[in-house]
Amino acid sequence: MKTLVKILKRILLALLLIIGILIVFVFARQSKTYDAPFPEITAVQDSAVLARGEYLVYGPAHCSGCHSPLDKQQALATGEHIPLEGGFIFPLPIGELQTPNITPDPETGIGKITDQQIARALRYGVGYDGRPLFDFMPFHNLSDDDLQAVISYLRQMPAVKKEIPKKKLNFLGKVIYALMIEPIGPEQGIEIPKSIVPDSSVKYGEYLSNYVANCRGCHTNRDLKTGAYIGEFYAGGFAMPSTMKPGKAVVSPNLTQDPQTGRIVGWSEEKFIQRIRQGRTIPLSEMPWDQFQQMSDTDLKAIYAYLQTIKPVQHDTGPAVIDLPN
Ligand code: HEC
Ligand code: HEC
Repeated sequence: MKTLVKILKRILLALLLIIGILIVFVFARQSKTYDAPFPEITAVQDSAVLARGEYLVYGPAHCSGCHSPLDKQQALATGEHIPLEGGFIFPLPIGELQTPNITPDPETGIGKITDQQIARALRYGVGYDGRPLFDFMPFHNLSDDDLQAVISYLRQMPAVKKEIPKKKLNFLGKVIYALMIEPIGPEQGIEIPKSIVPDSSVKYGEYLSNYVANCRGCHTNRDLKTGAYIGEFYAGGFAMPSTMKPGKAVVSPNLTQDPQTGRIVGWSEEKFIQRIRQGRTIPLSEMPWDQFQQMSDTDLKAIYAYLQTIKPVQHDTGPAVIDLPN
């Protein structure tokens, strides 16, 4: 009996030690850093480049929707091109993230960050200081020219001084960050174009849908804790916690060509374009309708053409707004 107690005590001690080491490890890994090449991208002041950057930022790439606070979304909806002061809050199961200020302010924005640091963050998912970024931004395969256009445009925006709080991870979030969050870079096997000419082709539609407008990132089921893809591409069913109403989530529909469950099956090009231009119909929708409304006909035609090529996946995604699953 005595020896049994002794053995149990030892096991307990060993367990405590292991837990202790794990906790120390988890906290130490909160400041882990990664390396990635700095793309050779330099901002310019050419007016055509700035116009392209402005179009991407407030349109298809919807930087504006995420990098503006909730109370400025109305201004964006009416087409105002406000500076991107950050502070949009994402409530996640792993904690709370706020988008940074990306105006040229030297203290609180990107004023002291180099073009190459910004380019690296967008292309390789490695933050200015080497930390891995959460995979909110799908721009890893953005062409060199588009990356340059976006960064050039950010540089000449009015500076806004606004401090944004650092991410607040709960303990689960810290464990996941320590063990599972790694930088997401360009997609394997897909060449990054130096430049790409906007036209209504499937190829350009694929570029926009996957690497600019993030249709794929939202219309595919993902693990909310890690951001990893867990569903088939474009089959929908990703339940995003509402950024407007706590306790609710909004679910993306299936955009594949499945005749039973695909939302846009049978939609003509005209109907598709009209639907996007119509904008938000579900008030809690997380889709950046205000930005996509501003997309050109050419871009919408290209996206439509690409979506016609998505192989059918049967997946009934249910109602659009649900109570947040625990
Ligand atoms: C879906 C929302 C979303 C969109 C769209 C988005 N961002 Fe972000 N962005 C974020 C979040 C969230 C972070 C913070 C990520 C983190 O700290 O892990 C971030 C961080 C950044 C950073 C800081 C990187 C660092 O090292 O701290 C820059 C620069 C940036 N975004 C620029 C852009 C630009 C430019 C665009 C458009 C081309 C854009 N973002 C579109 C959500 C978004
Ligand atoms: C930030 C996440 C997000 C992104 C990015 C996104 N969507 Fe959505 N989408 C949703 C959600 C959530 C819904 C369901 C709510 C709604 O209908 O607004 C939705 C609904 C839709 C619908 C159905 C509308 C209807 O009336 O039935 C279509 C079509 C659609 N998205 C197409 C697209 C396309 C095309 C893109 C890329 C250009 C895109 N989405 C990007 C989240 C997203």
